[in-house]
Amino acid sequence: MAVVYLNKRFVQAERAKVSAFDRGFSYGDGLFETLRAYAGWVFGLERHLGRLRKGAVQIGIPFRGEPPQWRKVMGELLRRNGLEAGDSSLRLTITRGADTLGSLLPPETPPSPTLLLVAKPLDAGIFEYQQTGFGAITFRWGSPFNPLGIKSLNYLYNMLAMAQARRESAQEALFVAPDGSIVEGTTSNLFTVSKGVLTTPPADSGLLPGITREVAIELAKKEGMTVREALVPVDELLSADEAFVTGSLKEVMPLTTVDGRKIGDGNPGQVTRFLQERYWAAVEEERLQGVRGATRER
Ligand SMILES: Cc1ncc(COP(=O)(O)O)c(C=O)c1O
Repeated sequence: MAVVYLNKRFVQAERAKVSAFDRGFSYGDGLFETLRAYAGWVFGLERHLGRLRKGAVQIGIPFRGEPPQWRKVMGELLRRNGLEAGDSSLRLTITRGADTLGSLLPPETPPSPTLLLVAKPLDAGIFEYQQTGFGAITFRWGSPFNPLGIKSLNYLYNMLAMAQARRESAQEALFVAPDGSIVEGTTSNLFTVSKGVLTTPPADSGLLPGITREVAIELAKKEGMTVREALVPVDELLSADEAFVTGSLKEVMPLTTVDGRKIGDGNPGQVTRFLQERYWAAVEEERLQGVRGATRER
């Protein structure tokens, strides 16, 4: 039976209750983070909590989010769910809390936030797609422009775009802005590779600045590659040598077709493969450092 962590308590999932007046439910008034754990080690926890803290400040929800405490709680949740050995995903949700008045404006006395952490095994399909690559569709029916760059609970358009991708047997949908450039995927950021140069849409183009995007940029630069942050028109993506999308669960995911058309020769590209390897090495390095640090503390 699954155990979740709700408002500072570990509880059986079917007993975990949130108020009918929770503003996350009424208005999507909250934020979330999706993280990946490797054999119990949550990768990039400091960065994820940093993004969540920043978002919480922007929308005025109190959230402290100290990494050591959260690492403990996440480790314990994984253990209680028997997930400490394999690959798993964690989702941390925070809402402004319950508001009995039910008005759009938050009450003058802020309610106490609702905090929920859940864990589950990683979807095994990801490993296969990392070898073969994702197919994506372009989605022009409105882009969920994200002016604050926060990971809010408003994922309705992302969900509808993803459902459309599934209907077309694709694994991701890429949002196209009115100017014809691609913003991001429903749960990923986009990169193209042309003549060895990486291009990714700029952080201020209405996307969610992904943690994996940030890590991929750092790793590529460390390897001496040129990374441009510039708009990516659909044509430029279609004529790129390679493309990939990034996300905490899918890591560096080759993008091999878009709207049924091959990118490059339709196989994961060399630069993409190289960055996948570098990413896995970075995860392992952080995990080993963390495990060594924890052993020293004992
Ligand atoms: C809209 C959107 N863009 C990008 C990403 C990738 O972000 P990260 O690398 O932090 O997982 C996500 C992750 O779910 C997302 O929902």
